[in-house]
Amino acid sequence: MPTTASTVALIPAAGSGTRLGAGIPKAFVDLCGRTILQRSVDGVLAAGVDRVVVAVPANLVAETRAQVPDAQVVVGGAARSDSVRACLAATGDHAEPPDVVLIHDAARALTPPDVFSRVVGAVLSGHDVVIPAVAVTDTLKRVGDDGAVLATVDRTPLRAVQTPQGFRPDALRRAHASNGDATDDAGLAEADGMRVHVVDGDLMAFKITTDWDLRMARMLIEHGATANPS
Ligand code: CTP
Ligand code: MG
Repeated sequence: MPTTASTVALIPAAGSGTRLGAGIPKAFVDLCGRTILQRSVDGVLAAGVDRVVVAVPANLVAETRAQVPDAQVVVGGAARSDSVRACLAATGDHAEPPDVVLIHDAARALTPPDVFSRVVGAVLSGHDVVIPAVAVTDTLKRVGDDGAVLATVDRTPLRAVQTPQGFRPDALRRAHASNGDATDDAGLAEADGMRVHVVDGDLMAFKITTDWDLRMARMLIEHGATANPS
């Protein structure tokens, strides 16, 4: 990652993890001796990001400060976008705005440093909003409520979108000014008419959503995978 640019990463980690069903908020689930959140923060710092702000459930703020002492910790909100806005509000404390703001799901704990570099590089080269994405490999069909196939969808132009998503600070503030909700931040930028630039993601940046994903992440770590190569 270019060392002259200043970067801040906002990490929404305040979700409940309903689909994972671990009984505790997903970011605090163990992933081979470190929590999902710790591994994500390790990866962000290993990628060379200067500053990290994490949003977590209110009752886990003190525990998070102990777990990730290098991150600033704030209380998240009911929806992912609220948690991002809570992080964003905390970045206003600093006089010098960063060159790039990254927003990164805590749940993408094995994201390789190269993905961060590509996103930061594209923002620094002039794109206001940058997302990493990968091709979709399954055949996709639209299915009706009655379980019958309505159509096969052409997957050629479709991409599965990941994080970190990169923004110029003013573009991110503009995207969130509407107080809207979207499953990703670029969705808010799109709704505001901004151009969103796509760079290559990486299959290792998959989001731990279900128990299958968690088992996959554990197996990958047991076989040497890490987002923190140091
Ligand atoms: N997130 C957040 N605040 C929320 C909801 C989600 O900070 N109110 C974060 C999650 O902690 C996660 C990221 O946004 O790191 C992506 O969300 P998702 O994978 O949907 O996590 P959860 O919302 O926790 O999971 P689920 O939807 O299964 O409940
Ligand atoms: Mg969710």
